[in-house]
Amino acid sequence: MAEKYQLPRGTQDFLGSDVRLWKKVENIIAEECDRYGYEEIRTPVFEHTEVFKTENDSSDMVTKEMYSFEDNGKRSLTLRPEGTKGVIRAFVEHKMYGNPAELPKKLYYMGPMFRYERPQKGRYRQFHQFGIEAIGAKNPLLDVEVIALGVSISRRLGIKNLRLLINTLGDEESRNRYRQALKDYFEPYLPQLCEDCRRRWELNPLRILDCKVDKDSPCFASAPVMRDYLNEASKEYFDKVLKALDDLGIEYVIDDRLVRGLDYYSNTVFEAVPVDAQGQQAAVFAGGQYDGLVDYFGGGPLPGIGFGMGLERIITLAQENGGLKEEERAIDAYVIAMGEIGSYGLKITQRLRDAGFNCETDYQKRSLKAQFKASDRLKARVIVILGEDEAASQTAVIKNTATREQFTVKEDELVATVEKILKGDN
Ligand code: HAM
Repeated sequence: MAEKYQLPRGTQDFLGSDVRLWKKVENIIAEECDRYGYEEIRTPVFEHTEVFKTENDSSDMVTKEMYSFEDNGKRSLTLRPEGTKGVIRAFVEHKMYGNPAELPKKLYYMGPMFRYERPQKGRYRQFHQFGIEAIGAKNPLLDVEVIALGVSISRRLGIKNLRLLINTLGDEESRNRYRQALKDYFEPYLPQLCEDCRRRWELNPLRILDCKVDKDSPCFASAPVMRDYLNEASKEYFDKVLKALDDLGIEYVIDDRLVRGLDYYSNTVFEAVPVDAQGQQAAVFAGGQYDGLVDYFGGGPLPGIGFGMGLERIITLAQENGGLKEEERAIDAYVIAMGEIGSYGLKITQRLRDAGFNCETDYQKRSLKAQFKASDRLKARVIVILGEDEAASQTAVIKNTATREQFTVKEDELVATVEKILKGDN
């Protein structure tokens, strides 16, 4: 097949059994979100580029990985690389901040996101993210609720080998002090650092710590750590987060070097990675708190906290942990139509479907044997066999595939009989 007709790099097709598995996971996620009081929000897959390209954003995602294009109206639009900024845009646009009694507004979303990254296992250019955002309240306990929801979903999917890494970036004052310390520290090393890091040094030296190129450079090991630049308020906030995690029995590892790849974080940041993970692409869910985004979009100084979970990654991990099995398709009834019976077979099929059963039939005029095989492959619990005699007398031969019993019923008794068999009464 010519390359131009094949999947674009970094994208995937999801076939029948994949989709069944995905829907199962999506349902579990929706149930858990409901339990924690998060409501689904659906925002567009593209936004004005400025929604993502916020001023001074120096993250790789914004500077290098966005799918941006001009539409016919000469607007610059961007396929969403993540969920948070679009959700905050919607939060402000719909004035959800207007009713303090309803804060924090707790929202979740699921859908495709797009990043021009180098594809590899667990990293795609179109990937799917489930994410939550709790907007409008600042409380260490809310940070912990957010983490607990991620942990709870992972547990329901049978994942036992996740490690929660956590850190704090402190408040604005602490971060400014830390940025200055990093600037001073890295200045003499600038000639050794990559070009991106030299740019990061200017714009946001915190980003240097997240560099994939320079991360093993010897000067990284003794770089200043955030912990030493936290003011009292930030320290206290983080301690409360850790205490509540302890109280909930959620294990964590404090990771001084965790700064996250995106620019908008403040205070608590976290990543859940498989225990045996190698490299940077392993986080299954990751997020943190952000103080400035709502204000940036014009909604006032309200904080938010959330995480994003890569569905490809969590599903693969759940399968590896044995917590998620591929669902085989099984149907209620298969209608075998033989000989010249016109539309009688389809009519019977439709009757069964109208009664709520999932039902298949043959359109290829296959032999009786081939149709039995098909019903077997689809794990039909009831087989309805129709020939010319049945069509003439408005009857049907029914076979219970569990007991192998076979009998004839009138068309009007068909639905009730199939129902009985499926309930196990026959
Ligand atoms: P993020 O760390 O960029 O954060 O992405 C969150 C998760 O999305 C990652 O941990 C990973 O599971 C998945 N992911 C990211 N990029 C890819 C990719 N190319 N292929 C497959 N999976 C990927 C955010 O997006 C923030 N919006 C999270 C957040 C929400 N922070 C606060 N609220």
